[in-house]
Amino acid sequence: MTDVIAIDGPSGSGKSSTSRGVASRLGYAYLDTGAMYRAMTWALLQRGVDVHDSAAVAAASSEVVLTSGTDPEKPTIAADGVDVSDPIRGDAVTAAVSPVATVPEVRSQLVALQRAAIAQSTGGIVVEGRDIGTVVAPDASLKIYLVADPVARARRRALELGVEDAEAMREALARRDAIDSNRAASPLAQADDAVVVDGTDLSLDEVIERIVALARP
Ligand code: C5P
Repeated sequence: MTDVIAIDGPSGSGKSSTSRGVASRLGYAYLDTGAMYRAMTWALLQRGVDVHDSAAVAAASSEVVLTSGTDPEKPTIAADGVDVSDPIRGDAVTAAVSPVATVPEVRSQLVALQRAAIAQSTGGIVVEGRDIGTVVAPDASLKIYLVADPVARARRRALELGVEDAEAMREALARRDAIDSNRAASPLAQADDAVVVDGTDLSLDEVIERIVALARP
C-alpha cells in the first residue's frame, strides 16, 4: 500500500505550500483536495446553479468530471476538460466553495476520486484538505493538523493575494472555517492520532522540515 501523509487544517494555515514542499522533498505525489471542491464550485457557477440550493447542487454535481494532476511542482485541476487552476482562486469561487462542500453527494463523489488518486499513486502521496486524516485516508501513516494564529493566517493570505484589508480577510477566513467546522458531513476536524503543528512563529521551510522529520524519523 502506498505511503499517505494527510495534512489537514483551517483555511490559510499554509497547508498548500507546506504540502507541496513536503511532497517535493520526499519525491511524493501531491493531491490538493481543496482545489477539487473549488473546481466543482467553478463548474456549478458556470452552469448557473444556486450554490445554496443543496438539491440543485447534488443533481448538477454528478455531471461534472474532475481531473487532478498530482505533480507537486505543477499541480493542476480540470473541470469537464478545462484547466481551471487559475479561476478557482478567484473571489467568486472562494465565496461559494464552503456551501458546496457541505452537500453530502458532492463529498461522496469527491472522496471516491480522492481515494482513487491515492490508490493510483505508487510512490507515496501527500494529501491536503479538511477531512483527510478523519475520512478520506484514516489509515494514513502520518497525519498532520496544521494550525496558525488567525491574525497571522489573515496577514499571510492578504499578502499572497495583494489584499490590503487584513481584518476583512480574517473575517472571511473565520466565516469559511465556521461553515467547514460546523457542517454535518465530514467537518473540518483534527484526527485523534494527528500531530498538531503550529506554524504561527515558524518559516515555511521550518514547517516542512518538521513534517519531513516526522515522516522519516
Ligand atoms: O483548501 P482550500 O481553501 O482551497 O479549500 C476550499 C474549500 O473546500 C474549504 O473551505 C472547504 O469548504 C472545502 N474543502 C473540504 N474538504 C476538503 C478540502 C476542502 O470541505 N478535504
